[in-house]
Amino acid sequence: MKIGNYAIAFVALPTLAFGARHPTCQTFTEIYADGTELCEKMFSDAFVVVPDDQPAYHMWFFDTDNNPNDQVTRDIFGTEPLEECNVQYFHKQVPSPEGDDMGECHPWKQRSCCHGETVGSVEEMKALYGSSWDRCGTMSEACERFFVFELCFYECEPSVGLFRRFNDSQTDHPDFNTWQLYQMPMKKSYCDAWFDACKNDFFSEERFSTIKEEKEVNKLGVSLGVIGAFAFLLCLFSSFLVHRERSGKPVFVAEKANPVA
Ligand SMILES: *[C@@H]1O[C@H](CO)[C@@H](O)[C@H](O)[C@H]1NC(C)=O
Repeated sequence: MKIGNYAIAFVALPTLAFGARHPTCQTFTEIYADGTELCEKMFSDAFVVVPDDQPAYHMWFFDTDNNPNDQVTRDIFGTEPLEECNVQYFHKQVPSPEGDDMGECHPWKQRSCCHGETVGSVEEMKALYGSSWDRCGTMSEACERFFVFELCFYECEPSVGLFRRFNDSQTDHPDFNTWQLYQMPMKKSYCDAWFDACKNDFFSEERFSTIKEEKEVNKLGVSLGVIGAFAFLLCLFSSFLVHRERSGKPVFVAEKANPVA
């Protein structure tokens, strides 16, 4: 290969990669004005940004024996931390310890609403909801970290259950679900740091906020498909029975009449 060809490949490959980017991909600074908008819009009102001097939850922490979110719950609600995992998706029913081999979400290993294997590696976490934060191309590690934090927090942190979008008295609501969060407070400085880390990365808001909805729809689609196929087979079988009855060879009678050899 001549030097010229290398040069062409060198120019063409990034262009191809760029060309393959979905049309809704933009830099974070094009999508969000600041960290507050990022935290509040990206997850459809799951989080609300509060000034740093107000109580707010922590998406990440280091002292595994002392989850600081427990104290935040006491400060905000005056109650002890939840004994159950109120949010249900991949979650456990009640928080419990995970082994020392718990992967990415290690801060929660003493008391966790996620199974260690659900959040074993970044790759597994990216595959959880079918579409990931990096579909606009590889993210900088600095930026990706914040998405890992958020996902660990959502999957493993028991106190997210205090911020469900719908409570269990609202099952009649057309949008009722047990996975959606609403206005869980986050500190402004944290959201600003997230925005700063992601400034030059590409992202698409388009589908990210609806990933979970799509998954619900997919589940429904599969169920309807299975029910449909079953109904079709049932129809086919009954018309077969009717046909046999009409042609004077009823299936069940014929079976019974068979002598046992
Ligand atoms: C559930 O939410 C609705 C609407 O916000 C509220 O009116 C109702 O009191 C709540 N029920 C319980 C048991 O918290």
